[in-house]
Amino acid sequence: MKEVQDYYFKKARKEGYPARSVYKLEEAQQKHGLLKKGDTVLDLGCQPGSWSMYAAQAVGPQGLVVGVDLNFGQINPKGHSARFAFLHGDIMTSEVLERVRAVCPEFAVIISDMAPRTTGNKWADQQHSLGLSRRVLEIAQEMLRPGGNFYCKVFEGEDFKAFVDEVRPHFNLTRIVKPKSSRPESREVFVLGMGLRK
Ligand SMILES: C[S@@+](CC[C@H](N)C(=O)[O-])C[C@H]1O[C@@H](n2cnc3c(N)ncnc32)[C@H](O)[C@@H]1O
Repeated sequence: MKEVQDYYFKKARKEGYPARSVYKLEEAQQKHGLLKKGDTVLDLGCQPGSWSMYAAQAVGPQGLVVGVDLNFGQINPKGHSARFAFLHGDIMTSEVLERVRAVCPEFAVIISDMAPRTTGNKWADQQHSLGLSRRVLEIAQEMLRPGGNFYCKVFEGEDFKAFVDEVRPHFNLTRIVKPKSSRPESREVFVLGMGLRK
């Protein structure tokens, strides 16, 4: 298991990404093609920036990536990438959403790798994670264009199935994704929604 972690860590470093988490998005992209050239992408919880960098490259120079995070940091998309805008703030507040809207009112794809600061209390951490995921779904209902895609991290646990049931009616296709690059002992999984119904 340690070797697998080292493998993704080293691979990320070699490929110029700040975090190994990039492969959790890459695997979904390779299998489901959620990002297309020219897309507008909202990356919630974007620091230190691997997903934004990957998305910016996938959507190319005609696309746009808007990243939001509680933390500051430097994100440098690679050459031939989309335009990129970073907004500092908490996605639970409406003030941040107003600033997102001012940059781009509607998105083709919303991705979220947000995780709460874990406390060691499994139940509390899972509820906090679900709160973030439900907020991402709410934002998707407001800001995702019809036919748009959604990819959101959530911790498995008590109310996980209820959350998937909340996501399902909004999309033409819903999948639960456990990427190979996700630590096997981690309770994180990703809920993928393709084709927003409005
Ligand atoms: C696992 S990291 C994301 C890694 C990123 N996808 C990458 O590939 O570099 C989770 C991020 O979510 C952010 N986050 C957690 N809660 C948030 C909130 N309420 N609003 C905005 N960002 C939040 C954290 O600050 C943290 O940077």
